[in-house]
Amino acid sequence: MSELKKLAAEKAMDYVEDGMVVGVGTGSTVAYFINALAARKDRIAGAVSSSEQSTARLRAHGIEVLDLNATGPLPLYVDGADECDPHKRLIKGGGAALTREKIIAEASARFVCIIDPSKQVDVLGRFPLPVEVIPMARSLVAREILRMTGGQPVWRDAVVTDNGNWILDVHGLAITDPVGLERELNQIPGVVSVGLFARRPADVVIVGGQPPRLF
Ligand code: A5P
Repeated sequence: MSELKKLAAEKAMDYVEDGMVVGVGTGSTVAYFINALAARKDRIAGAVSSSEQSTARLRAHGIEVLDLNATGPLPLYVDGADECDPHKRLIKGGGAALTREKIIAEASARFVCIIDPSKQVDVLGRFPLPVEVIPMARSLVAREILRMTGGQPVWRDAVVTDNGNWILDVHGLAITDPVGLERELNQIPGVVSVGLFARRPADVVIVGGQPPRLF
């Protein structure tokens, strides 16, 4: 699978233009993208990073990491996903970076999602849906999610996000209305963000293969 991730990541370089500040996601597929970006580092203006992990990797390659508050809107965001449906709606957050990923996706004119074929599904939800929560609200949010969806929230024990929060992974969902579920879950007090990228889906999905497939 790693070769397919690499092929998708390298294809995303087609969207990188000289002088750009590039939004960079998190995960093993993005690691290949950062490697490819490093080869062009003198021709880009820098990167905005979605996690401490990606920041470290970018800096190790000598790519300048910029503050989103200083850059303003970005032309391009490249990130992986845990699941992708035919409408380019995503589940993300397997790496616990969903909140910053969502912020950068929202700030970007074009979101290019890079995946291997195993991430493609007809209906989102086989991958447990990550929800970032304020620690004191963990039980409250879990009860509400169970009541609202019937899904089983499981605390991702020992994981603290870059924002100092916790993650609930919601099992057993078949998400037939991703936009509606994203909206509903966002309204529970204590929810920081939901790993559903439906209101703001990807603009382009690159599926790794020989050759890569775009939709
Ligand atoms: C990080 O929190 C996630 O949203 C990642 O984008 C997602 O888990 C994809 O990871 P891989 O590229 O490692 O499969």
